[in-house]
Amino acid sequence: MIIDIVTIFPNFFNEFLETSIVKRAIAKESVTINIHDLREYSNNKHKQIDDTPYGGGVGMVMTFPPFYELITKLKQPFSKVIFLTPQGNVFNQNQAVDLSKEKHLILLCGHYEGVDARVLELVDYEISIGDYVLTGGEIPAMILSDAIVRLLPGVIMEESHQSDSLSNDRLKYPQYTKPEEYKGYIVPEVLVSGHHGNIEKYRELMAIKTTMEKRPDLIEKTPLTEKEVKILEENK
Ligand code: ADE
Repeated sequence: MIIDIVTIFPNFFNEFLETSIVKRAIAKESVTINIHDLREYSNNKHKQIDDTPYGGGVGMVMTFPPFYELITKLKQPFSKVIFLTPQGNVFNQNQAVDLSKEKHLILLCGHYEGVDARVLELVDYEISIGDYVLTGGEIPAMILSDAIVRLLPGVIMEESHQSDSLSNDRLKYPQYTKPEEYKGYIVPEVLVSGHHGNIEKYRELMAIKTTMEKRPDLIEKTPLTEKEVKILEENK
């Protein structure tokens, strides 16, 4: 996969590209992430990329030509162009899975009061990372890239995707590691029993219970399956 990120703050991404799983995915060539400085596509001699809004009003608006030049240079017939904006659909794990199957993503980071609306005519999806307003689209672009890159084949063990929190609208079961006891805080007995069947059942039960307790909205969205109801009944 190729991810092209369009930003006026290219340095913002330095640590992101050099850290942890994203760094490893780049080294393994599972993904190429290119950072493009939008200012370089300004035809203004001061490299200005914003201007006052037509019709008046407060703040500045990012201009159309630099976006047009850069997008038309990068875009292939199969590319998906995404604009990060609080006005978009709120990003979720299902969308991360869908986008991880694409070949080429172009992520546009906005700033100021917004972008010239003609940019949206070149965009496939408007995506928000949540109902709050950030100073720019850089952190949202990192969030999308991170969520997508870890799903690419070979980046992390595939089994971990199936047990990811939020896959199938269920949270993950609680996990523990050594020591078995610390200052009276203990690991549930079943997990140290070595009985794989019971451990599996415990995890299924806890995934359902944790979701019901912490995210009842997910149960409403994807109701309990027959199997889940049976597991709950067996453990009343
Ligand atoms: N830019 C500013 N706020 C944002 C948000 N919540 N999601 C995506 N892009 C943004």
